[in-house]
Formats: sequence, C-alpha cells, structure tokens
Amino acid sequence: MKALILVGGFGTRLRPLTLSVPKPLVEFGNKPMILHQIEALKAVGVNEVVLAINYQPEVMLNFLKEFEAKLGIKIICSQETEPLGTAGPLALARDKLIDGSGEPFFVLNSDVISEYPFQEMIEFHKGHGGEASIMVTKVDEPSKYGVVVMEESTGQVEKFVEKPKLFVGNKINAGIYLLNPSVLDHIELRPTSIEKEVFPKIAAEKKLYAMVLPGFWMDIGQPRDYITGLRLYLDSLRKKSSTKLATGSHIVGNVLVHETAKIGEGCLIGPDVAIGPGCVVESGVRLSRCTVMRGVRIKKHACISSSIIGWHSTVGQWARVENMTILGEDVHVCDEIYSNGGVVLPHKEIKSSILKPEIVM
Ligand code: GDD
Ligand code: MG
Repeated sequence: MKALILVGGFGTRLRPLTLSVPKPLVEFGNKPMILHQIEALKAVGVNEVVLAINYQPEVMLNFLKEFEAKLGIKIICSQETEPLGTAGPLALARDKLIDGSGEPFFVLNSDVISEYPFQEMIEFHKGHGGEASIMVTKVDEPSKYGVVVMEESTGQVEKFVEKPKLFVGNKINAGIYLLNPSVLDHIELRPTSIEKEVFPKIAAEKKLYAMVLPGFWMDIGQPRDYITGLRLYLDSLRKKSSTKLATGSHIVGNVLVHETAKIGEGCLIGPDVAIGPGCVVESGVRLSRCTVMRGVRIKKHACISSSIIGWHSTVGQWARVENMTILGEDVHVCDEIYSNGGVVLPHKEIKSSILKPEIVM
C-alpha cells in the first residue's frame, strides 16, 4: 500500500521553530511529527511513502534516510517547482501513486496528530464502496477547518465546506484520507485545493464518505494547538503504553523525559511536559505544559509553563517563562528574566524581560 504526505508550505505559524527545520521535522513528544505518521502507516502495511514537498527536500530526505532502513519503508519525494496546494501535488505524484493494483492510497496533512486509526479506515473504505474516505472529528471552533455535513448512519458526505464563515456543523476534516486511484482523474496538474475543488465534487456524486475518528485529534501547526495536542497525546500514551511516561515523586501527571536528559534535585515536573535528549534541568526547576527540545539547559529555580523551548537554548536561573513563549533554536534567556508570551527568533540573547506577547528579532 502507498501513502502521500502533504509536507509543503513554510510552516509560518510555527515560527520560529520552522526557521530551523521544516515543520514535519519539528519534534512532538520527542519525535519528529512526520515519524509519528510514518510509523503508524507502516504498522498497517504501507511500504512506500511519497512526500509531496516544495521546500528543502534534501533536508527531509537526509533526515529520513536512517528511518527508511530502520522501519523498512521506502520514502520518496515528489517535488513541486511552485506550490500546488493540497490537490495539485496528487496529480504531480500520479505515476508514483498508481501501480496498477487498483488499491486505494492514504493522503495525510503533515501536521495532524492522532492515534491514526488507519486499519479502521481501511475497513470503513471497503465497506461503503465509494471513491474516497475522509476522517472527521468534532471540534468546538469549526471555522478554521473544513466542515463536513454527513448522513450519520452511512457516513455519506452531503456537503464539504472549507473554512466556513457561517456555522454549518461541528464535524471537521481531520486531514486523513483514503482515496481510490480514480480520484486522481478529478485532479488537474495546477495549484488546486482538495478541500475546495475536489471533495465538493466527489460529495455531489455521492461517492465521498466520512468516518468519525476514534480517539484524540489535533492540528499541531500552531503553538497553542501544539501545546494542547501534547496534552492529548500524553493522555493517550498513558492509556496505551504508560511505561513510556516518567515516574517519581517529582513528577505530576503525564511527562515524557528522554533517557539521556538529566533532572536535578527538588524539581517539580508536569503535567504535560516533554523533555528531549541531552537536556539538563538543574535543581529546583518547575515545568508544566511545555516542550523542551534537544540539548536545552534550564538553570536552577527557573519556572516554565505553557511554552516551547527550542533546541540548545538556555533558560537562566530564577527566570520565569510562560504564556506561549516560544524560543527558537539557540536562544539564551538570562538569569531572573520574565517572558510573557515572547516569540524569540533563533540565536538571540534575552537580557531584559518581555512583559507582553511580542516577537523578538
Ligand atoms: N506539497 C504541498 N504543496 N503541500 C501543501 C501545500 C502546497 O502547496 N499547501 C499546503 N500543504 C500542506 C501543508 O503542509 C499541510 O500538511 C497540509 O497541506 C494542509 O495545509 P495547512 O496549511 O496545514 O491547512 P489548514 O490546517 O489550514 O487546513 C487543512 O487542515 C485542516 C485539519 O487540520 C484543511 O485540510 C482543512 O480542511 C482541515 O480541516
Ligand atoms: Mg494545518
């Protein structure tokens, strides 16, 4: 079976992290986002993944080479010379996706995280006999997504409206599709949107079916959702493989600590924290709802909440970092500094407090 992952786009909403690596390689729960997807695809028998990419393909391919061998999966690139949107890349990769077997293939947005119930989706797809299946999930704020109106009993999609201005429903497109090769006949090789141009057409022909995704889901392409997504992901990890989570009197709730990270005396860590490889957390540090990426040092008595600390940064002693502060790679926050929602570009030194949410360049 094959799959295509839409990895184009510059990931602007996840800057400054995406100034250092392409969005799909940003770690989430101590693992690059895209690896969560590739591993889950492999688990249901996908043996070839096409990355639809329009930016830095070498970086992605070099990084993934190691995992190609480790996971026993073929990873190839389909590179656009101009951004082709969310459907054009499928037309471009047509020859890579079709192998004459007539088998359906998966298509994923690269920034969605869930338990990836791909096996259930395969069964669902076989059962309805339509052309395309999409996963949907319920959200409170549907306007920033594609909204799907479906017949509850069969899953047949009646309407697909991308980013509706008026309320249409609260079931939204989760960015996970299983498509018959015939869907490619509806897609032209030009910049085009699967949500605006392809799905409405297939829905009108009554050949588009939606399945409500079991378990959690989040688009982690922006900081606030990334932090919420980490909470949901760790919750699900607790239920499925709780041995991966940290334990001890200094741990509150769900916390992931890489085996090579060092945690000092008298810290209080959690809930909903991920600490990456090689990190050093000195004594008396308080961390909650945050991600600390590879190689970070957090000095004594610093306090970090609802924030992301980019690779190889340092946070000074007694510093307080909170409210969606995002530090890019190699940022140094001096001792006793306060950051309230600072978004700091890579390689900066922060010598004075950031009192309200702002970008520091
Ligand atoms: N190759 C390629 N080329 N990929 C692209 C391009 C492009 O020109 N433009 C966007 N993508 C990729 C993005 O990298 C991402 O993986 C995916 O297509 C969706 O783009 P986003 O920019 O993340 O879209 P969105 O989050 O606003 O909306 C989409 O996702 C929602 C779920 O998270 C839509 O599919 C919505 O309908 C959906 O609800
Ligand atoms: Mg998105």
